[in-house]
Amino acid sequence: MKSLIGAKITALGTYVPPKLLTNADLEKMVDTTSQWITERTGIKQRHIVEKGVATSDLAVEACKQILEKRGIAPTEIEAIVVGTVTPDMLFPSTACLIQDRLGCKGAWGFDVSAACSAFLYALQTAAQFVRTGAHKKVLAIGADVMSSIINYEDRATCIIFGDGAGAVLIEAADPEDPNIMLDFIHEVDGSGGCSLYMPAGGSKRPASHETVDKKMHYVHQDGQAVFKYAVKKMAEASETLLKRNGLTGKDIDLFVPHQANRRIIMSAAERLGMPEERIIINIGEYGNTTAGTIPLALGSAREQGRLKKGDLVLMASVGAGFTVGATLLKWGAD
Ligand code: UT7
Repeated sequence: MKSLIGAKITALGTYVPPKLLTNADLEKMVDTTSQWITERTGIKQRHIVEKGVATSDLAVEACKQILEKRGIAPTEIEAIVVGTVTPDMLFPSTACLIQDRLGCKGAWGFDVSAACSAFLYALQTAAQFVRTGAHKKVLAIGADVMSSIINYEDRATCIIFGDGAGAVLIEAADPEDPNIMLDFIHEVDGSGGCSLYMPAGGSKRPASHETVDKKMHYVHQDGQAVFKYAVKKMAEASETLLKRNGLTGKDIDLFVPHQANRRIIMSAAERLGMPEERIIINIGEYGNTTAGTIPLALGSAREQGRLKKGDLVLMASVGAGFTVGATLLKWGAD
C-alpha cells in the first residue's frame, strides 16, 4: 500500500479489571456447564468490572502504560481514536473522556463503532493521520465493558463476553525503517446487522420502561449465523490480504485473531495453513472482550516472548455489523 509517510506501532498497553467471572460462577447463574463452555468456545474465565467502572477507566490504564514505556508526556499525543461498543455514555465520546483524564491537552479524538472489528478500524483510522503527515503521535484504543450490556440470565450470550482494554501508539517512521504498518482490508456487510445487536437505547427505540422490561438494552445474538460468517470471512479477508502482498500463511510470524471462539480461530488458521505455534489464543483467560481482544492478544504474545520487533504480524477480526478487518504489519515496538 502506497503511503506518504510510514506509520509504525511503537508501544502497547493493556488492562483488564481484577475481578474474575469463571465458568464455575456461571454454572451457578444459568443452566450451563463449565465443560460445555470450554468445549464450545474455549473460554474458562473472563475479567469483569466492579459496578461503576467504565470503558474509559480501563482505556486510561492501558494508555498510561504507553506513555510510561515510551517516556513521553501526555501533551505529545495529537489525536485519540477509540474503538468501542460500550462507550461510558452516548456522548461525549469516550475519546473526550480519555483525553481529559490523561491530560492530553491539545489532542482531539473520536470514537469508532465497529464492534469486534473496532480496534482494527481505530488502528487504521489513526494510522491515516500519521501517513498523511497530519500528526506524529496518535493513540488507537480498543476497549469494552461488555458486562454492562450483557443479560446474565441468557446463557447463550453471558458465557462469551468479558471486559478489557488495549491501546497502541502510532508514530511516524523514518523512511528507511522497515517495521511499519503494511496493508489492510476492511469490509462491512450491513445485511448481517440483526444477527448481533443491541435493539434499544438508540434513536430507533429510545430507552423506556417498555424497552427495559423487554431486556432490549442487552446484546442479542444469533450465535450460529455469526459463527458461520466469522469462520468464512476471517479466513477470506486474511487470504486476500496475504495474496495481494505476495505472502502465504507460512510467511507470517504471528497470527493475532479476534478472540470470539476458539473454534472460529482454529478454522481460520487451518484454512490459512498457519501452524498452531504461530497463533495467539488467550480466549480461555479473557473471553471475548470485543474491541479489546486483539490488543490483549498482542499483550499475551509479548508476555510469552512471542512478539518481537520486526515480526510480520497478521491481525483479523469479524464483528457485529457485520464488520470485517485484516491488518498486516511489521511490529515496531521494542
Ligand atoms: O465477536 C463476534 C461475536 N460473537 C461470536 O463470534 C459468536 C459466534 N458464535 C458462537 O461462538 C457460537 O455460536 C456460540 C458459542 C454462541 C454457541 O455455540 P453453538 O455450538 O453454535 O451452539 P448452538 O447455538 O448451536 O446451541 C447448541 C445447543 C442448544 O441446545 P439444543 O437446542 O441443541 O438443545 C443451545 O440451547 O446448546 C445450547 N446452549 C447451551 N448449553 C449449555 C446454548 N448456550 C448454552 C450454554 N450452556 N451456555
